[in-house]
Amino acid sequence: MRPEHYSVPEAVADLIRAHNPQAHNAVDAHDLAFLNWALAAAKPGQVIEIGTASGLSAAAMALMLSAQGQGQAQIWTADLRPRCYWDDNLPVGFVIADLPPERRAQIACETGVTALDAAARFDPATVGFAFVDANHQHPWPLIDTLCLLPLMIPGSLIVHHDLQLYRDAKNRVGCGPKLLYDQIAPKMRISAADLGVAERDLHLPMRSVRNNIYALKTADEMAAQAAVLAQAFCLPWTVVQPLDGTVILRLRAFLAEHYPPQVARFFEIGLEGNQIRQRQISAASMPLWHRIKARIKRH
Ligand SMILES: C[S@@+](CC[C@H](N)C(=O)[O-])C[C@H]1O[C@@H](n2cnc3c(N)ncnc32)[C@H](O)[C@@H]1O
Repeated sequence: MRPEHYSVPEAVADLIRAHNPQAHNAVDAHDLAFLNWALAAAKPGQVIEIGTASGLSAAAMALMLSAQGQGQAQIWTADLRPRCYWDDNLPVGFVIADLPPERRAQIACETGVTALDAAARFDPATVGFAFVDANHQHPWPLIDTLCLLPLMIPGSLIVHHDLQLYRDAKNRVGCGPKLLYDQIAPKMRISAADLGVAERDLHLPMRSVRNNIYALKTADEMAAQAAVLAQAFCLPWTVVQPLDGTVILRLRAFLAEHYPPQVARFFEIGLEGNQIRQRQISAASMPLWHRIKARIKRH
């Protein structure tokens, strides 16, 4: 790997000078240096991104691929929402519009979709690189990973953002990337700290948090890897909203189709555990009189 792959190309530096990542709730210069290295290592024909928001990371990846001589690579970036979650006036992906036409043409941006929709768009084992930066509540990063894994070329990388969110005292739910990281066999993961990009001063707009991004290397034995990762379903979930009924049905069908039965079993354990916890929370928030009535009814 050449030294410049551990930094960001000048076109990306210009992009983040024009669009401050912090104002766009986006990846910063350190994260981008890691993505640049990972894309250079992967040389993907097809990239998937889950979580577009402003489109800054998708735009940066298009510029990186071009600087690496991979201007033919395609990026599919997907977001649940049509508008940016911090400002309803901004359409999702608006930064992509600032790119030169040939870089814009590399990116297909779709809204109203999630990782569950990727399998309808890509054949198994055809995707060379994925970047997951969507819902950080556990088990969403795991769900996104399991939805993408069958589409990935064995040995390719799935990069996750916000590894350090679990340390934020004001955010007690965004620990999904960290729980997933801990579940990956050490030889199958690489973090910004492992690469040494986290310590470098890039003189570009960035946050104080470092080592906030990592890659999962997909295994030849995808089913065995998924069975280990899926154990994290059994850890307490931190989703603020219960999973939507349609998502549950679609995910059940997907897991049953692509993975050995224990993957679906781990999902059901986590789902049931979360439903019990949600019931306990809503019972605890009932007025005292309702709680007494419910207790009398039970006896
Ligand atoms: C942190 S932002 C992405 C930032 C972007 N990757 C960047 O660096 O420029 C997370 C985005 O994920 C979207 N999102 C949340 N849950 C999602 C899901 N389950 N599937 C797809 N997108 C989701 C949100 O609407 C939001 O726009």
